[in-house]
Amino acid sequence: MKILAPIDGSRKSLQALRYAVNLAEKIDAQVVVLNVQIESDVTIVEPISWDAPVLKKRAEKVFSLAKQELEGSKVNVEYKMLQGDPSKEIIKYADGQKFDMVVIGAHGLTGIREFLLGSVANKVSRHSMVPVLIVK
Ligand SMILES: Nc1ncnc2c1ncn2[C@@H]1O[C@H](COP(=O)(O)OP(=O)(O)OP(=O)(O)O)[C@@H](O)[C@H]1O
Ligand SMILES: [Mg+2]
Repeated sequence: MKILAPIDGSRKSLQALRYAVNLAEKIDAQVVVLNVQIESDVTIVEPISWDAPVLKKRAEKVFSLAKQELEGSKVNVEYKMLQGDPSKEIIKYADGQKFDMVVIGAHGLTGIREFLLGSVANKVSRHSMVPVLIVK
């Protein structure tokens, strides 16, 4: 079994990742942690250099939070960075790589509680071919 855990570095996404890993431990599954970097986020800060190294560095920061969260876990965890639109990339990757499940947070970095779900959680749960588990 393969579980996809997309994270944006938010508290809620790390909570979802922990849920994914606890589940993976029980069913002997593998977990892939995915972070999607949005090019336009970087252009605001640094107009000319939204190149691969910059995006990679930003993803590494997010992954280091995940590694802290998962310290001591025995589950097989891999880390993957993609760039583009988060919901589109998550949906494409989950389907293309034949994951059995996506475990995603209900909210992310924006975290506006009035909405039932953030836009990424909403789009992934509606359009993914792969079953989606939303951690509230
Ligand atoms: N860039 C990303 N890369 C990987 N996973 C992401 C990314 N953005 C969001 N996610 C996943 O989606 C979950 C929900 O985040 P979402 O972005 O939908 O909520 P939000 O940030 O509160 O609202 P919005 O982005 O719509 O303003 C996160 O907990 C995380 O699991
Ligand atoms: Mg968001």
